[in-house]
Amino acid sequence: MSKSLTIAFSAAKLPTSGTLFVLAAEDLACASAAEDLMNDAQVQRAVEAMDFSGKTGSSLDIIAPSASGVDRLVILGIGDVSAMTTQSWIKLGGTIASKLGGTKAATVLAEVDADAADATGDNNTANIAANIAYGAKLRTYSFDKYKTKKKDNGKTPKAENTRLTLATSENTAAKKAWNSLSGIADGVHLARDLVNEPANVLGPVEFAAAAKELEQLGCKVSILGDKELSKIGMGSLLSVSQGSTKPARVAIIEWKGGKAKDKPVAFVGKGVVFDTGGISIKPGAGMGDMKGDMGGAATVTGLLHALAARKAKVNAVGVIGCVENMPDGDATRPGDIVKSLSGQTIEILNTDAEGRLVLADLLWYVEDKFKPQFMVDLATLTGAILVALGSEHAGLFSNNDELSEQLSAAGQATGELVWRMPLSKAYDKLIDTPNADMKNIGGRMAGSITAAQFLQRFVRDTPWAHLDVAGTAMNAPKSEISQSWASGYGVRLLDRLVADNYEG
Ligand code: BES
Ligand code: MN
Ligand code: ZN
Repeated sequence: MSKSLTIAFSAAKLPTSGTLFVLAAEDLACASAAEDLMNDAQVQRAVEAMDFSGKTGSSLDIIAPSASGVDRLVILGIGDVSAMTTQSWIKLGGTIASKLGGTKAATVLAEVDADAADATGDNNTANIAANIAYGAKLRTYSFDKYKTKKKDNGKTPKAENTRLTLATSENTAAKKAWNSLSGIADGVHLARDLVNEPANVLGPVEFAAAAKELEQLGCKVSILGDKELSKIGMGSLLSVSQGSTKPARVAIIEWKGGKAKDKPVAFVGKGVVFDTGGISIKPGAGMGDMKGDMGGAATVTGLLHALAARKAKVNAVGVIGCVENMPDGDATRPGDIVKSLSGQTIEILNTDAEGRLVLADLLWYVEDKFKPQFMVDLATLTGAILVALGSEHAGLFSNNDELSEQLSAAGQATGELVWRMPLSKAYDKLIDTPNADMKNIGGRMAGSITAAQFLQRFVRDTPWAHLDVAGTAMNAPKSEISQSWASGYGVRLLDRLVADNYEG
């Protein structure tokens, strides 16, 4: 996994060297430990010269302030403290990380004015410190392992050389909260790594091997190969990989942190390591992005990492279908009819609508084998979801209002947003065909919905939600906490879904 910065916690004291970050509210109110420094004549002069008033998003950078031994003082405006939320502390942590440069040692005095702190809510001292650290870790991700020239020229600061200390009076509680958050951030970084990795390096076999690594965290991981998949009857999934020289793999990752008798929660991911479109081949422009067509499976893997790392009190299972979609003499042709694990037959009229063929067999398998409390699948399923929602929300489709509401709430809490779209009999009809039980494409319209209707034909009674993450998993806008092409979208969302509703 890519390296990140080192995080430490200490008492709420000012450091004597390195870089110091201090938080200042609107009236420049700050933690008591920083008051003397803030009142220093040189600092006051800088504040006046720059007309700095502590507005949210503003900052003041002072080199070698004479009142302190530190090399650099950065005062960060946080505006009205009562308007800050856990999300804003995370973003602030990201902003801090963006200002580290190549510094070896930095300290954040992670405290606010005592009158503004609150004992239990988002602005309690431990929560502030832990979430600033979390944001900083999420931000300091980069995928640069293939940059051979950058390694030694010293020009690009490396986060892994930086030690960021959170100075807080609640450092024991902060450290405890951090241990969980750090595990979630590792899950996000893992998901980003998997999506960024090109398909010549990360094929289905290698992806399954990456999932297997989760055994180190106490997960049980089983891997099914081509022969087993065909014996089980996953004719739909296998029709996607049959044109590739790379065999298919399905990985089943189980985390048992709950009571033995508790039914698991289940996550299913589309893991198309590369999507050429198959015989219905895609146009060349932008096709390289299709190395990220395993974003759903990457998120499921990152999520299971997060749950295991923070020892979540839940039984969870993640199932990923890893295949490559290639044109070839052995590839599926448009018009071919295949038999899915469910027994239902599918007329494949477009080999580029392959993700649903993978998920169809996985959803049927998971419901049969695990009888889960719910199933959430994630897939970079349709270009149409980008047309509808852009990169701000994932499309949410579900047969269950309660699960949908839990997902929406988790989206609001984490900033990984979802937007519910409709399912209905009228849309379902659009995938009927005279030649088989269904076809794998609808018409020109409502492409994301007909894809979801297809999936629903492979779900029986279990509460189920489908997240179309084609717009959010990759190529997503840069933010305070992600500068990466691969966002890791969904790890924090689903970790939160579990933490708020299914643990205990
Ligand atoms: N992997 C693509 C969807 C996609 C598009 C993901 C853009 C990320 C960015 C999927 O397999 C696909 O090709 N879908 C087709 C479906 C169509 C043939 C019905 C699409 O969206 O065009
Ligand atoms: Mn496709
Ligand atoms: Zn695809």
